[in-house]
Amino acid sequence: MSLCLYGEEFFMNIYTSIEAMRAARPKGKRLGFVPTMGALHEGHLALVRGAKAQSDVVAASIFVNPLQFGPKEDLSKYPRTFERDCELLEKEGVEFLFAPTVEEMYPEKAITYVNVEGLSDKLDGKSRPGHFRGVATVVSKLFHIVEPDLAFFGQKDAAQVAIIRRMVRDLNIPVEIVVCPIVREPDGLAMSSRNAYLDVDQRKTATVLYRALLYVQELFQQGERNAARLIEAGTEIFSEDTALRLDYFAMVNPETLEPVEEITQSTLVAVAAFVGTTRLIDNILLG
Ligand code: PAJ
Repeated sequence: MSLCLYGEEFFMNIYTSIEAMRAARPKGKRLGFVPTMGALHEGHLALVRGAKAQSDVVAASIFVNPLQFGPKEDLSKYPRTFERDCELLEKEGVEFLFAPTVEEMYPEKAITYVNVEGLSDKLDGKSRPGHFRGVATVVSKLFHIVEPDLAFFGQKDAAQVAIIRRMVRDLNIPVEIVVCPIVREPDGLAMSSRNAYLDVDQRKTATVLYRALLYVQELFQQGERNAARLIEAGTEIFSEDTALRLDYFAMVNPETLEPVEEITQSTLVAVAAFVGTTRLIDNILLG
């Protein structure tokens, strides 16, 4: 079924069923795909613009995937702004939106999961057990339903990128993964749907993540190559603000997510911290 929510002047086709989305797959066109959980912001829209620039036709998805939320996480309060999201996607020229229900995506008794072993339990996977199994499972399902030529992901979720790239390689999924840079607020905070949870004071505190990353980058530019010393310096910035609780501050290989000791090649500096009950992540690449 194709829904037209906003009258005849809008042309985005919205599909809620897998069958309809599959049937709509344009043949012989380069299809770019942007999977999201909605509550769209400029970070998501940058992916859409990247997709528009590199594809003939663009599809996006909005699906708040229960499988990637832990039992004590924010699934029920995750921001949902579907109508506004549709308007934004429409304005960017997205041709297809796949917005299934939970029942459509996970029929009763589904027992098959995708686990990228050895990667799924690192960084966010360590503090959020099962999270990356949920991500890999839903993304592989979305790839099979939408059948894109290109799929666009944000560097903001660097571990997610490593896991999706590895899954696509290991399972021979015929899609090219394109990674887009992190879009930030003017004060440096990485845009995130979860920023909506922050009150005024927490919003100010949240800038510490990027400031700590910039400090580490500065030390690196001054010649420091030892990961332990850089981590210590970054971590210290967090101890200055008691409103923050650091989850991890790590320097890892961006593909294997294994810790590095000396920075001799491209290294991912990734940070996760709680501001109140809101968990925020950010990262930069060095080298
Ligand atoms: P969501 O958090 O909605 O993010 C969708 C995409 O937008 C991801 O690729 C994410 O990295 C990217 N993104 C988010 N904030 C960004 C920013 N500030 N700059 C650049 N890109 C940004 O990530 C997910 O959803 C889900 O895990 C999903 C892949 C959809 C699977 O459920």
